[in-house]
Amino acid sequence: MTEQLVDAYGRVHTNLRISVTDRCNIRCFYCMPADNVQFMEKASLLSFEEIVRFAKVAVRLGVNKVRLTGGEPLVRRDLHKLVAMLKAIPEIHDIGVTTNGILLADQAQDLYDAGMRRINVSLDAMTAEKFKQITRREGFEKVIEGITAAQRVGFRPVKVNAVAVRGLTEEEIVPMGEFARRTGVEIRFIEYMPLDADNAWQREKVLFGHEIIDILSREIGPLVALGQSDPGAPATDFQFQDGKGRIGLIASVSQPFCMSCNRFRITADGKLRNCLFSLEETDVKAIIRGGGSDDEIADAIRNSVAAKKEGHEINTARFIQPDRPMYSIGG
Ligand code: 5AD
Ligand code: SF4
Repeated sequence: MTEQLVDAYGRVHTNLRISVTDRCNIRCFYCMPADNVQFMEKASLLSFEEIVRFAKVAVRLGVNKVRLTGGEPLVRRDLHKLVAMLKAIPEIHDIGVTTNGILLADQAQDLYDAGMRRINVSLDAMTAEKFKQITRREGFEKVIEGITAAQRVGFRPVKVNAVAVRGLTEEEIVPMGEFARRTGVEIRFIEYMPLDADNAWQREKVLFGHEIIDILSREIGPLVALGQSDPGAPATDFQFQDGKGRIGLIASVSQPFCMSCNRFRITADGKLRNCLFSLEETDVKAIIRGGGSDDEIADAIRNSVAAKKEGHEINTARFIQPDRPMYSIGG
């Protein structure tokens, strides 16, 4: 039996999120500054070989599920090669990606052929105009093309992540619900979290999950809660009563799911983070590039997980926003 990564609260960590770059081709306000972003030096990014070495050690400690994130992961255009390398590790039975979808139509087939099956596309609006207001770039049509391409080549499930922001995205909720019903993608509404680069998050801007459910059931039709299929999954899933259209809620602020969290992260520059909101990280790249052994990497992972805090403290006065905004953590 393989070892398990258990923290002080009994949470077993099987889910590794790997950020492959902090670069992005759009500039969502809840994640990045509008301009003049200081990106990581290319040389400081882990190579695919370094990522795979790390993943193999993580697998020895019980990891069996991997998600690739960014920035925008598809800006590393040969990402499918990394997918194939990870797919060759037998214990990893699930490889997903979270992408903004802009480059997805071009890469969907290669990613699928490399063995990826699950895809999450970030899209917060159903009009080009609102898309531009949020992302500060063009690209709405490309994202829709990307989602369509992902469904066509066979990705299942295709999920759409929509950050919900009060005063901004209320009018998108019903069109997104209808999109879910029309296309079969699951729309997952995510409460806006304090991980933006501009430090502009305010509690008043969080559009709560229960409000979203109220709007959808009033305007479209009743929603039925589906049982939790995967206890480590942050989303609560719903389906419209007529059986058409799936909705997920990631109520990270109003109903934190920290107690069932099974994930940890490695950033594109090789820092281990046991939580999105960690204020401390472990420099694994220094071990890898300093000639360290696999056992040293394993110890770094064990120690990081062992030091994981009980949960984020967004709802307390103690909360401190981490220095790294979302784009350099990886979501
Ligand atoms: N709050 C909530 N979700 C966010 N994301 C990025 N920044 C935030 C934030 N501040 C989401 C993106 C993407 C995923 C990686 O995280 O929409 O889907
Ligand atoms: Fe880019 Fe994703 Fe951040 Fe949006 S949320 S700016 S798509 S990295």
